Amino acid sequence: MAKTRAKVTIVGAGNVGHSAAQWMLSHRLADIVLVDVIEGMPQGKALDLTQAEPIEGIDLRITGTNGYDETAGSDVVVVVAGIARKPGMSREELLATNAGIVRGVAEQVTRRSPNAHLIVVTNPLDAMVYLAYKVSGFPPERVMGQSGALDSTRFRTFIAHALGVSVQDVAAIVIGAHSDTHMVPVASLATVGGIPLSRLLPADRIAALAERTRRGGAEIVGLLKTGSAFFAPGAAIAQMVEAILLDRKRVLPLSAYLTGQYGVRDLYVGVPAVLGAEGVERILDAPMDPSERAAFDAAVASIRETVALLKL
Ligand code: NAI
Ligand code: 2OP
Repeated sequence: MAKTRAKVTIVGAGNVGHSAAQWMLSHRLADIVLVDVIEGMPQGKALDLTQAEPIEGIDLRITGTNGYDETAGSDVVVVVAGIARKPGMSREELLATNAGIVRGVAEQVTRRSPNAHLIVVTNPLDAMVYLAYKVSGFPPERVMGQSGALDSTRFRTFIAHALGVSVQDVAAIVIGAHSDTHMVPVASLATVGGIPLSRLLPADRIAALAERTRRGGAEIVGLLKTGSAFFAPGAAIAQMVEAILLDRKRVLPLSAYLTGQYGVRDLYVGVPAVLGAEGVERILDAPMDPSERAAFDAAVASIRETVALLKL
């Protein structure tokens, strides 16, 4: 029978994986395959999600598996397998363990879904997406990392709450590295209902919101104590999947392969990009003030250092 619906595989059916599945289902985006190494877990979560469908009026297929055969022919593969950090850990401390996992996953999924888009989520994000790109042999526009969609929604949330306005009217991007120290909330470009944020809040308040954004993941790790954030990360993944499957040409910050943009070559870095059916269709040039540009350059250097540890 001809394929009629889009198919999305999520490798890693832990907290972020199942949250992403739930958001994708609620947006009725695609049939979903959940893969995990824990026996019975992805099958159990798939069955549980399936049993919500009559309530929501959804007829999509959700499959749970410990293997890869069911993933064949996926349109999008989300790689979110790996360990998450505990309080006090940086994302970079996950490198050695998660590199082995991401390498193995990328080998498995690319063989069965050679035309898929790969969205890497596993941390340390910018290095893991570079690794997946190298292992997959896919063109760079079909391999990207989820980082800025999450970091930007955090920044927008904090700005909206500080001003007592709707989140819908706050536009703000976060680029650079997905790390506590090298994330770059581009406050100079943030607007509220079209008005520059700098006209609405004093510089020290804006700096505090930017710092809270940089530490947004760590704040949640500190509260949860047993893992990291998953509701907003899941929503951010679903937003990217939707942009690709529906060819929405969304302008989202994401970790993209740079070939000279921002003066950077052969590295994945968080930048604003146009995301549609062809994947990362265009990278946009974000003007920054001198301190933001210095922070962006430091982010690039830090990603290069982490990637060097992979010895690819
Ligand atoms: P989790 O521990 O809840 O789930 C991870 C899952 O991966 C587990 O179920 C585990 O069994 C599975 N797994 C491990 N090795 C596997 C393999 N070889 N094949 C298939 N599955 C495998 O962790 P959580 O909270 O879902 O986070 C997952 C990763 O995503 C972490 O590295 C975390 O730091 C990262 N993350 C990244 C975000 C971003 O914005 N880029 C946001 C949130 C999390
Ligand atoms: C976050 O920012 C863990 O990277 C993840 O919440």
